[in-house]
Parts: sequence; structure tokens; C-alpha cells
Amino acid sequence: MIKLENVSRIYQMGKTLVPALRGLSLEIADGEFVAIMGPSGSGKSTLMHLIGALDTPTQGQVLLDGIDIAQQNSNQLAELRGKKVGFVFQTFNLVPTLSALKNVELPMIFQKIPRKERYEKARRLLEQVGLGDRLHHKPSELSGGECQRVAIARALANDPEILLADEPTGNLDAESG
Ligand SMILES: Nc1ncnc2c1ncn2[C@@H]1O[C@H](COP(=O)(O)OP(=O)(O)OP(=O)(O)O)[C@@H](O)[C@H]1O
Ligand SMILES: [Mg+2]
Repeated sequence: MIKLENVSRIYQMGKTLVPALRGLSLEIADGEFVAIMGPSGSGKSTLMHLIGALDTPTQGQVLLDGIDIAQQNSNQLAELRGKKVGFVFQTFNLVPTLSALKNVELPMIFQKIPRKERYEKARRLLEQVGLGDRLHHKPSELSGGECQRVAIARALANDPEILLADEPTGNLDAESG
């Protein structure tokens, strides 16, 4: 399902080049559960952004079900992400003006899920992560760990084939994690 071939990602900052990934090859089959471990700054988030089709490599290929993400236009990439990928961001990336419930509904709105169905699903997911009594709180009215749980619920909203979770328990206590 996921195949990376000799992937490099070099960030450019003015005149400075910052190599984050150098010649990485990786294959992940359907149904596999993979943990990527490494020290801070070693390129884990960079790698996950590539697999999630949020970024494209400087060199090499990222293939999702045989589709080379670098060959897709931004609309195609958005569609691919919306259908295939759930992403729990290291920094959550919740929409600050929306309630927890609406944040979780958002990816389902883009997939044109009917209103009642997406409301029910968002509520169920938030209940599953222990936030049934925080549905109408905005991110600024939630704790860090609660925001993280909203981000997890949101990533699951469209039953993605690929679930990418970037340090998804970093803000949670052992039991919640
Ligand atoms: N947008 C960017 N522009 C320039 N350099 C960047 C950018 N994003 C990341 N980097 C650099 O690339 C390297 C890899 O960053 P990345 O965020 O992938 O690391 P990480 O393994 O996820 O670290 P952490 O465990 O701290 O989250 C780091 O040295 C970082 O400073
Ligand atoms: Mg990271």
C-alpha cells in the first residue's frame, strides 16, 4: 500500500539546505502496524507528512497504492488525502474557531456525509476518546491532552485506510494513551 523509494527531503531556508531525510526506502503492506522511532529532529514528522501526501519529496518516489504523489495536482492530492488518510498531527492542527464536535465533523463534510450521520459519528468518536462531555468546547477551552484526543477522533472520522499518528500520546497520561 505504501512504498517509498530512495526518498530525500531537503528543506531550503534562504541559502541554507536542511536535509531531513536522506535516501530512505520503506514498504508498508495493508494491515501492517509500524512504529517509527528516532530522536528529536531525525525526520519522523517529515516522513509522515510525505506518506500522508501533505508534502512531496525532493528526490525519490512516494507511492500510495501505486500512485506517485509527486505526479498528482493539488486537487488530486486533496481527494486522495480526504479518502485514504487520517492524520493525527504532532501539533494537533485543530480549527480554533470550531467546537470539538465540528472539528471532528469537518473531514466528513468534505466527503459529503449527510448531516445527521456525521453528527452521530462525531459524537460517538468523541465519546470513545472520553470527551462526551466536551462536545461544544473550542480548542482554547480544552486541555492539551483533550485537544490531542479530538485530533485522534478527527483522524478516524472517515475510516481511513491509512492512519498516521505523529506522537499521538505525547500529551496523554499512560491510561488515556
Ligand atoms: N519546514 C522546515 N524548514 C526547514 N527545516 C525543517 C522544516 N521542518 C523540519 N525541518 C528540520 O528537519 C529536521 C527533521 O524535522 P522533523 O520535524 O521531521 O523531526 P522529528 O523527528 O519529527 O522531530 P521531533 O521528535 O522533535 O518531532 C529537523 O532538523 C528540523 O529542524
Ligand atoms: Mg516530529
